[in-house]
Amino acid sequence: MDVNIISGEIQTIEADAIIVNLFQDARPAGATKAVDDALNGAISELVDSGDFIGKAGQLAVLYPRGAIPAKRVILVGLGKQEEFKPDSVRRAAAHAIKKAGELKAAKVATILHGVGAGGLSAAESAEVVTEGSLLAIYNYTGQKKEAPPEIFPKSLDMVVFDANDVAAAQQGADAGRGIAEGVKLTRDLVNLPPNVCDPVYLAKAADEAAQAVGLKIEVLEKRQMETLGMGALLGVAQGSDTPPRFIILEHNADKAAELDTIVLVGKGVTFDTGGYSIKTSDGMVGMKADMAGGGAVIGAMRIIGALKLPFHVVGLIPAADNMISGNAYRPQEVLRASNGVTIEIISTDAEGRLLLADALVFASRYKPAAVVDIATLTGACVVALGTVAAGMFSSDDKLRDSLMSAASRTTEKVWPLPLFPEYDKQIESQAADIKNTGGRFGGAATAAAFLKHFVDYPAWAHIDMAGLAGIDSLSGSSDNPYVPSKGATGYGARLLADFVRGWGK
Ligand code: BES
Ligand code: MN
Ligand code: ZN
Repeated sequence: MDVNIISGEIQTIEADAIIVNLFQDARPAGATKAVDDALNGAISELVDSGDFIGKAGQLAVLYPRGAIPAKRVILVGLGKQEEFKPDSVRRAAAHAIKKAGELKAAKVATILHGVGAGGLSAAESAEVVTEGSLLAIYNYTGQKKEAPPEIFPKSLDMVVFDANDVAAAQQGADAGRGIAEGVKLTRDLVNLPPNVCDPVYLAKAADEAAQAVGLKIEVLEKRQMETLGMGALLGVAQGSDTPPRFIILEHNADKAAELDTIVLVGKGVTFDTGGYSIKTSDGMVGMKADMAGGGAVIGAMRIIGALKLPFHVVGLIPAADNMISGNAYRPQEVLRASNGVTIEIISTDAEGRLLLADALVFASRYKPAAVVDIATLTGACVVALGTVAAGMFSSDDKLRDSLMSAASRTTEKVWPLPLFPEYDKQIESQAADIKNTGGRFGGAATAAAFLKHFVDYPAWAHIDMAGLAGIDSLSGSSDNPYVPSKGATGYGARLLADFVRGWGK
């Protein structure tokens, strides 16, 4: 869908549908009032009758019968004005654009929700209208024989009332598109089947993203990982015929010396069978999404590049399949990670932390101001927080607060969990420095305790997003109109990019 900025008055626009809004229990105002006047009070009548109260997401379609050039008017509720925030606009835009799509409207125009009474600037509104609209029309069509259905609308014109706002609104729209394209990439990667999206494919997708927005990329192969002594990652990877990849994306690589460095690390297990500690058949379905953390980092890096954020940002994605074969790693093996720490394997199904271990060690070479890793790491975290919020463990209060702020702005929720030293006991091993599981209790926290052994920088946060990837058996709690109710959510891409965007603020 094309998104354009035009200047003018919405009631004069020729389109298959125009979109206007209403705050809850309010009278039509601004552009909505202009349309209402042109329609001889048709919107007011809807409101006065009590049929439309402006509740968030409420929709009505009006037919102007020649009173204005548009074929339809879509009225969307913004909810209560005192509860208004930028996400209200993402949601309103998403509800409205989906309605327009259902009606097969090709050419759609919208006002910039929240400019005026909502207090948003034209740039702010244009960004969230674009983001919400593009994310809402995302549709994964898989590998069906039949051609995918045509996507409606074809174009969205955002009508700016004040011609002086056009340039700012265009910048907002560009940012919104950059964000949506990153999320789309994350969703696609997570949705793709594991026979397509393997580590090699993931590296190719990262390369395409890098070319699209001007990131530096380097992809390490098995031999280079051996040289680096990445015994934990390689231990997981050795059971599969698909070779591992270690993907390094870098934004502002040439300015590394001047700018703050932030490293993002994402678990890229392209399929998790559990290995010899094999999962049940039911437990295995959904495990194509075990690279969702890596997918989130690739998506976030694409956004960070598109937005040209003024920081040196590195994205690391250790990618491997966790499989069974004559060469697969086994329980009771001892692996040596790249910082020399030895790990007794208790469960080959606790593989994600092994990939993260070598990536967290690698992150150290960038002298980072902050490192954030994100992973579909433990079922225990899903038990703790469900599919509503990811668990967040942070060694630094300011980093934790920054992530909380980004979560609130994007509505990709995280919630703090503890890094108490008491958990360390549960991963003590007789055979090695540590073991890779900590028993039944506190599974999310003992996984975080494990990761601490590979962190030697002051500010580190670990995000356990096991419940948030949108694995079908775990989906269902989202009523968010711009997040698919089936399949991948794209969780994490916006969160991480927005965290970087807010860095130092
Ligand atoms: N990929 C899984 C975690 C997971 C579970 C993600 C459910 C999404 C939904 C991870 O590799 C895993 O298997 N974790 C084990 C750890 C255990 C063996 C310590 C788990 O959570 O059961
Ligand atoms: Mn596993
Ligand atoms: Zn896993």
